Amino acid sequence: MIPISESSFYSTQGSSLLRSFDKFLSRLSRLKWSPPGSIDPGLVCLLAELANERAVIGNLVESWDTEDLEKRQLRCHETSTHYKWFVYYHKHLRYRIWLHQYKDTEARQPGYAEVPHNHRYSLASVVLRGGFEHRYFARDVAGLSEIESERRFYVTGEAYALEWQKLHMLSALRDHTLTLVVESPVVRNFSEAFYDVRSQPVLFHDFVGLHPRLAEATRTW
Ligand SMILES: [Fe+2]
Repeated sequence: MIPISESSFYSTQGSSLLRSFDKFLSRLSRLKWSPPGSIDPGLVCLLAELANERAVIGNLVESWDTEDLEKRQLRCHETSTHYKWFVYYHKHLRYRIWLHQYKDTEARQPGYAEVPHNHRYSLASVVLRGGFEHRYFARDVAGLSEIESERRFYVTGEAYALEWQKLHMLSALRDHTLTLVVESPVVRNFSEAFYDVRSQPVLFHDFVGLHPRLAEATRTW
């Protein structure tokens, strides 16, 4: 296992051997998923391969019937910048797969992917359609400043990995952008977002992190 870095990036052209989503899952399951927050470098290459097999994702999405979608939508959610479609969770290795369907320019609201933020997990992402500018930020006592040398535009077929603690954001999102994202097992139960680069971050807790508050609320009514 080698640590992922902001330069973890891969693009491939030509045909691949990923003929079905099950084959993709089988190859994912052979990668290393521990300790939480680590991303096997082979994942970025695998995602770039998947982007060559457009029918694999299309067939998968078309296979979701009404009964499937009723259950699937319990895990899907909408953000101000994109729809996060739940695709798959490996209950033993604990990685998760999502499709991120970005809203078109006029439909996006400020926040989420378009402000500096970090994550509860590391991730790898591949652009299936569209593209965006990917930007990193450094934090010091004065607030955040962009690491402009690391700004990069990603287009269809290009993949990258991101460590959970890195502050990043997307900009210049093309309309109809669609990405497939694989998340590592969760490292911590909150993420941070900066709506103002000179102020303190807003913390977003997941429901594991929120549970003590619920427990307190249900003890005291
Ligand atoms: Fe992000």
